[in-house]
Amino acid sequence: MATKVIVNLPDEAPYAVRIGEGIIADLGRNLRDIPRFARTADVLVVTDSNVAPLYLAAVRESLAAAGFKAADAVVPAGEETKSVEVAAELWSALAQLAFGRDCLVVALGGGVVGDLAGFVAATYMRGVPVVQVPTTLLAMVDSSVGGKTAVNLPEGKNLAGVFYQPSFVCADTATLATLPDREWRCGCAEVAKSAAIDSDDFFFWLCEHAPQLAARDSQVAAEAIKRCVVFKADVVARDKTESAGVRECLNFGHTLGHAIEAAAGYGTYSHGAAVAEGMRFALALNDGADASPEFAEALGRLLDTLQLPVLEWRAPADRLLEAMRCDKKNRGGDVRFVLADDVGRWHVEAIGEERLRESLEAW
Ligand SMILES: NC(=O)c1ccc[n+]([C@@H]2O[C@H](COP(=O)([O-])OP(=O)(O)OC[C@H]3O[C@@H](n4cnc5c(N)ncnc54)[C@H](O)[C@@H]3O)[C@@H](O)[C@H]2O)c1
Repeated sequence: MATKVIVNLPDEAPYAVRIGEGIIADLGRNLRDIPRFARTADVLVVTDSNVAPLYLAAVRESLAAAGFKAADAVVPAGEETKSVEVAAELWSALAQLAFGRDCLVVALGGGVVGDLAGFVAATYMRGVPVVQVPTTLLAMVDSSVGGKTAVNLPEGKNLAGVFYQPSFVCADTATLATLPDREWRCGCAEVAKSAAIDSDDFFFWLCEHAPQLAARDSQVAAEAIKRCVVFKADVVARDKTESAGVRECLNFGHTLGHAIEAAAGYGTYSHGAAVAEGMRFALALNDGADASPEFAEALGRLLDTLQLPVLEWRAPADRLLEAMRCDKKNRGGDVRFVLADDVGRWHVEAIGEERLRESLEAW
């Protein structure tokens, strides 16, 4: 049974996120039911070298059965692919196919393909529609919804990008069966983040079902994905472009997390492991009167259960501080942290250099 969550954003056409087992088979038909695609013919499916052998044929078959003419572009798997150079290759591929403004881009893969193909769709001919078909847990619970698209620059991650909403999201949970364990845990870190920031209902449900999620139980995973999408849709509806101070909550754990990834060298620690460590650090940093020690303990236990243990690695405070200063979310000289006080309660605090250095040294 598939579930559907509608994302309703101000000044945008609403779009559906469909979640279910085996639903790639319905993709073509689902797209034909969307009025703007009733007469669409040309589709470019962008995917990566790991996902193509697994799921490209099924996507093409579903599109062909609904009368779409699909071409594909297979990019190398990995974060390095989220580059201006690969984006330019995709722009050229669209132009060489002579695709016009009435074409459609389908992003089949994890967050790398989703961000890259979304960016290419947003900019080709000043914008053609994009449909997200996420195949990692992280992409299903987070990156495929909300419209952030980007490529990386040599100077930093996601530095060139635009907000551009997809027209439809098809999260086929059957694709998760082939996901490596490390990538599964990455997604689990984002689920834990969403639950902690969202509500008692989500957080305590996750605490109860964390062993099954860690063991990759498909029903629990589908429920977690649905809850994350509902949560993200609500946050994004209140702050589409991260300017109203609401969407910032999604960065819980990411300030130190990104710095760990950069300082250790990308790929040394998975994004999920780094974000989990970032959440633990943000809990320790929060010495406000409103901070609940019971919540901090429960979240720490939850991360342990999700197999996101405390990292053994430590870096000199200076290296982490330097990496944090490059964060594009900073304003002025201070580093901004999302601090979670309790389930569903958070605030942003600008932490001065001295306090941050002391906390990193004590960490
Ligand atoms: N747009 C947003 O809001 C947002 C949010 C969070 C993260 N991101 C971005 O997402 C990216 C990370 O995404 P990710 O974690 O999905 O990484 P990814 O896209 O690199 O996928 C991880 C790995 O899994 C492989 N893979 C994907 N699906 C598979 C499947 N079903 N079976 C087997 N292998 C599969 C990929 O080929 C890759 O090797 C980063 O670039 C990050 O910046 C964007």
